[in-house]
Amino acid sequence: MAAILSVKEVGKTYESAGKSLTVLHRINFEVEAASTVSIVGPSGSGKTTLLGLCAGLDRASLGSIVLNGVCLDELGEDDRAKVRNQYVGFVFQNFQLLPTLTALENVMVPLELRGERGSRSRALELLDKVGLADRGHHYPLQLSGGEQQRVSIARAFSNSPQILFADEPTGNLDAETSETIERLLFNLNRDMGTTLVLVTHDMELAFKTKRVIRMKGGGVISDEVTQPKEL
Ligand SMILES: Nc1ncnc2c1ncn2[C@@H]1O[C@H](COP(=O)(O)OP(=O)(O)O)[C@@H](O)[C@H]1O
Ligand SMILES: [Mg+2]
Repeated sequence: MAAILSVKEVGKTYESAGKSLTVLHRINFEVEAASTVSIVGPSGSGKTTLLGLCAGLDRASLGSIVLNGVCLDELGEDDRAKVRNQYVGFVFQNFQLLPTLTALENVMVPLELRGERGSRSRALELLDKVGLADRGHHYPLQLSGGEQQRVSIARAFSNSPQILFADEPTGNLDAETSETIERLLFNLNRDMGTTLVLVTHDMELAFKTKRVIRMKGGGVISDEVTQPKEL
């Protein structure tokens, strides 16, 4: 199977106040297209940083990342933004919806950025998919955490991404809402063939993906194929 994501000898060092802090070192893995992978590990082990590099939100200090055939290493912010808009969906733990836009408008943003026609009806379709067809006119603050996360999933899927990165997508949600969100993510993987890479603390969720990568102290300590649990 073809790799949609290839991470080779990747390192990340943050510089601030004249000091440097290396938070990722020599990370290597590949992700097969249409597969599901979890990244787990203690807080501070570098999971969010790694996900951000893979998604082109930030740039690695060392090594090489190839996403859907595009090498991200030398790309500047504008070019990475284009790659993200073309291929990538990202779900943040804290949703990161734009507070001054309605749910519908939030989902429309990536479509408008692509200059697509019919972005409103496409956004409505996606809100319907996440069970929020009747909440499109509401602002994020008028929605519960679970509802906001569903809007952010609709937004992440609006550009039909080849790969979806989700950083603790259920980390701020109660058990029942988490289950709804999990189902959505896995159904979209199954129905649209979207590769799913998620970071989680929840081992129950991790074992629902086909593979679990464990991190510690900025490195990968294990990388195992799992027997996914029935959803
Ligand atoms: N912008 C930044 N500048 C400096 N250090 C950072 C920055 N972002 C993250 N870090 C540090 O990188 C390490 C890994 O953080 P993170 O990737 O958020 O870990 P995790 O998601 O596994 O909890 C932490 O020690 C964190 O403090
Ligand atoms: Mg994190």
